[in-house]
Amino acid sequence: EKGGYDHFMLKEIFEQPQTIHDCLRGRLDADAGTITMSGIEKHAAQILAAQRILIIACGTSWHAGLVAEYIIEELCRIPVEVEYASEFRYRNPIINKGDVILAISQSGETADTLVAIETAKEKGAIILGVVNVVGSSIARISDAGAYTHAGPEIGVASTKAFTAQLVVLLMTALKLAAEKGSISRDRYLLLCKELAAVPEKAELLLKADAQIKALAEKYKDARDFLYLGRGYNFPVALEGALKLKEISYIHAEGYPAAEMKHGPIALVDEELPVVFVATKDSYHEKVVSNIQEIKARKGKVIAVITEGDTITPTLADDIIVIPQADEMIAPILNVIPLQLLAYHIGVAKGLDVDKPRNLAKSVTVE
Ligand code: F6R
Repeated sequence: EKGGYDHFMLKEIFEQPQTIHDCLRGRLDADAGTITMSGIEKHAAQILAAQRILIIACGTSWHAGLVAEYIIEELCRIPVEVEYASEFRYRNPIINKGDVILAISQSGETADTLVAIETAKEKGAIILGVVNVVGSSIARISDAGAYTHAGPEIGVASTKAFTAQLVVLLMTALKLAAEKGSISRDRYLLLCKELAAVPEKAELLLKADAQIKALAEKYKDARDFLYLGRGYNFPVALEGALKLKEISYIHAEGYPAAEMKHGPIALVDEELPVVFVATKDSYHEKVVSNIQEIKARKGKVIAVITEGDTITPTLADDIIVIPQADEMIAPILNVIPLQLLAYHIGVAKGLDVDKPRNLAKSVTVE
């Protein structure tokens, strides 16, 4: 049942080229430049007329929501807020008729997310669901939505569901932007093509597995880790840190790279590994100066970089190379080596990576 892999988590990480392909199939036609998503189409006018889009989720799904915030705001020019379901629901949130709520959930059963959207629905909000489990509670209560089609995720730590969420959210943003006319035809077509190329690039990237396993051996005894990124990759840093905490029980913090100097930089010494999500994008130069700040304090830098980058390797202690991709696509690829790093560190420490202590696959307690 683990398909020859030692753990479900590893199997699910390696399935990503296929699950991303499944998620795109029947929706994206990159040559024709069409994206078919009936639920979104049906509500496009309402969504585009909304004052704001509220994204509600927990954990890893919340991280996918953060990436979506940056992308939807950039492409659609609609204000987006991302909320932890548990915070949103308990504070008498302001919801008006016609508000659009986007709920993201792998299981479709997370109690806080479910109750949050029930409350919003009663107040007249339109609920869109991005859900993996077909027929789950959140899928049923949503007015429309899109399934992530990642297949059953057995490993407690979410991996393939996350990348499928990113793909669905990106297709949604592209579809809305095209409808609104807030994206140029060229940019739209380019992003469609880039999306279609993700499965192949993910496949290439997985070849770094043995190299990442060696990195895991090198860093497995660290007491803490810092994960840093900016822009579209800030949520990827958060997700990398969450994976490591869950699977290896090593304390890890994800932070926006520029915020580091407002506090966490005090942690940096020669013992601290700092993982930078530093692929080529509009923030890259700034990220490079953040890497220099860490090196000046003798931190150990592991940098996730774009193939062809010649500068970052001269600064970092270790590098993980990602195929070239547009900056809006890169998070889907960048997270994969971070999943592998967490996995291999957990295994190297002899831990039960498929069932980390204290965690449940679906959090149905409030
Ligand atoms: C992390 C993880 C959790 C879930 C969270 C939300 O690896 O799996 O943080 O992402 O419990 O779950 P869903 O997406 O099922 O609502």
